[in-house]
Amino acid sequence: KRNAPLFGKKALVTAGPTYEAIDPVRFIGNHSSGKMGFAVADELANLGAEVTLVAGPSYQKAQSQLQRIDVTSAEEMFNACSKVFTVADITVMCAAVADYKPKIVATQKIKKQDANFNIELEKTIDILATLGQRKNKSQILVGFALETNDEAHYAKSKLQKKNLDLIVLNSLNDEGAGFKSDTNKITIFNKAFESTTFEVKNKTEVAKDICNAILKLLK
Ligand code: C5P
Repeated sequence: KRNAPLFGKKALVTAGPTYEAIDPVRFIGNHSSGKMGFAVADELANLGAEVTLVAGPSYQKAQSQLQRIDVTSAEEMFNACSKVFTVADITVMCAAVADYKPKIVATQKIKKQDANFNIELEKTIDILATLGQRKNKSQILVGFALETNDEAHYAKSKLQKKNLDLIVLNSLNDEGAGFKSDTNKITIFNKAFESTTFEVKNKTEVAKDICNAILKLLK
């Protein structure tokens, strides 16, 4: 283990969706499976890093030895990440965090009524952007961008706005990419906006490509 490339490094990875409660039985969520994040966490651990995986609701199981913290909401994910980030050398945020949450969470199950029903939503905290503000020079921060149009433009703008070292773009337009799929097709941008586009691959292989890009930054 001592000669592993990431021996002695601490890594933080987020994975899965977040669920934002409406009432005790309902929530707002998304279709993220967590597969990409778990694959990245496993690969970082295989490379010798001490990994903490902060996971939203997901059926995935980690293959490697890592510390897993299960969370439900964006706020819980933020609180868990906040602590771990202070000691993390490498952070990869793969989670599909909900952008909005109900402003008021009903304490009792909301009853069905004849009229239409509106839920007022407020923004959740942008975990990645907040950590980007706190980042020091020795920390590496990697984000994801899932786009449907003007993909490269939005990816580069997020890289800058959130103060990232790398951003991994996956386009929903690509065959074999996306949320529930076992495969993904990515383009990685660095700070200089240099990009590398990879073929459609198994998410385990995609995780290796992402980790290689991180290893390059560490050199
Ligand atoms: O801005 P957008 O949601 O497209 O950015 C995606 C990236 O930001 C992903 O890496 C995701 O994990 C992260 N993110 C976050 N907290 C949010 C929203 C997104 O950490 N509230």
